[in-house]
Amino acid sequence: MNVLFIGDIVGRKSRNFAFEKINNFKKNKDADVIVVNVENSAGGFGITPEICNDFLNAGADVLTTGNHVWDKKEIIPYINKSNRVLRPLNMIEGTPGKGLTIVETDHGLIGVANIMTNLFMPPTNPVFECLQNIIETFSVKNNLILSLIDVHGEATSEKVAIGFYLDGHVTAVLGTHTHIPTADWRVLEKGTAYITDVGMSGDYDSVIGMQKQSAIPRFLNLNKKKLRLEVSLGEPTLCGVLIKTKKDGLAKSIRPIRIGGCLNEI
Ligand SMILES: [Fe+2]
Ligand SMILES: [Fe+2]
Repeated sequence: MNVLFIGDIVGRKSRNFAFEKINNFKKNKDADVIVVNVENSAGGFGITPEICNDFLNAGADVLTTGNHVWDKKEIIPYINKSNRVLRPLNMIEGTPGKGLTIVETDHGLIGVANIMTNLFMPPTNPVFECLQNIIETFSVKNNLILSLIDVHGEATSEKVAIGFYLDGHVTAVLGTHTHIPTADWRVLEKGTAYITDVGMSGDYDSVIGMQKQSAIPRFLNLNKKKLRLEVSLGEPTLCGVLIKTKKDGLAKSIRPIRIGGCLNEI
């Protein structure tokens, strides 16, 4: 089975580009299951119910998020009812929505979890303490054809440690949040596909998706009033990974995909 995972969609232009590509991947049967991190898809900050519906209608099976999940408040009642739109699992008890789901697809049951790391990130419960819960929920007895974890976080060390902790227990551990793709995609020793960060889907002629002229002065004037960040509107690059799975639910291969924009071809 072929699984496509796409990293943080930033803004409307990338969103529309992603809808078209997701639709093609599904229609041409190049991807059987598609999971997308959408945390920056509404103007760079958050998500709305309409945008989530558009991604699901385009062919995405599950949507993940991260620290920006609550930037648009109208998502709260929607996420409370949704089985296919996740917020990080280790947010404090009582947080709306869920961080882990098992849903039916045309090809069988899939499990997706969304977790957020602790280093240099907004406060959440300790991320390593929720990993055992993920392993148990996605265990072989649940007959999942895919178990995919979106690890949303800043520190590469923490993300790779989570990858090794989950190796052999899940199909894929895939990093998001930094908006810059890393070059360490591989299948780990016990069969889990891993990458520290798949990168954003946005304009790379920017500071992680935001216009340079609004982002750079913020670093120069650290103690002064900051300029509003605006989404950069150049040609977007869709960044993600394609994973081939085996019958036992582990990974056969992982390779990065980059479509459009100004990043080098791989
Ligand atoms: Fe992001
Ligand atoms: Fe993030």
